[in-house]
Amino acid sequence: MRATWLTDIHLNFLRPLALQAFYDRVRAERPDLLLVTGDIGESDSVARFVGELAAIAPVWFVLGNHDYYRSSIASVRAAMPRLPVRTRWCNAHDPIALTDRVALLGVDGWGDARCGDLDSKVELSDWARIDELKRCRDREARNATLQRYGSNEARTLRDKLARAPARDELLVLTHVPPFPEACVYDGKMSEPAWLPWFTCIATGEVLADHARAHPDQRITVLCGHSHGAGTFEPLPNLVVRTGGWPPGVEGYGNPIVQATFELA
Ligand SMILES: [Fe+2]
Ligand SMILES: [Fe+2]
Repeated sequence: MRATWLTDIHLNFLRPLALQAFYDRVRAERPDLLLVTGDIGESDSVARFVGELAAIAPVWFVLGNHDYYRSSIASVRAAMPRLPVRTRWCNAHDPIALTDRVALLGVDGWGDARCGDLDSKVELSDWARIDELKRCRDREARNATLQRYGSNEARTLRDKLARAPARDELLVLTHVPPFPEACVYDGKMSEPAWLPWFTCIATGEVLADHARAHPDQRITVLCGHSHGAGTFEPLPNLVVRTGGWPPGVEGYGNPIVQATFELA
């Protein structure tokens, strides 16, 4: 089985011809399955883009923060189960066995304000463009909301890991890097001012717990969000691959294929 990984493709930045060229590029990978780790479009376009990708191959995906822009987390998520049959939003679907050796699951994750500089002056567009964050009256309330979202994602992930089919390898899709060291930008770990919004500590703890409890299982996490390519191995059986672009290369409007895996 050939599984092609895309992340942070932000297809709303593309004009129609460029969009078709990108779909042709994805089709050339001859995928049996597409794995998409979030930031696909925005609230008014994410369903359309996922549907168009599903014309190439079945899509398993998680949502990123941009996919909620100009709407609310609740209403975008509520629309996901109504997507076409060849699309699967991981949060709403049980883990599956892809092959005799590999199982797949995923959760969105959320930058959960649990590491780095919590007094950071970095202002994300999220604060103004996602309804639930717009409603937070101050920084403290917003951080508490972000922490709550991180905890919810961790709870969902723990539940999915417990129900995953027993396989030698586990592929986990998530948008937000689950460890600070996996939060890569410009070829290195992000600065403390960015880490609170670009790392999901809560899902990282769940992944590490699972990896320690299952030393014979190999777990590969695919994530994005920080737009810099990197690999971090927190434990001998746990590797996190952050999808992105090499230093100096712009990600917005420049979607690329991160990798195609041959899964046996
Ligand atoms: Fe992104
Ligand atoms: Fe993102």
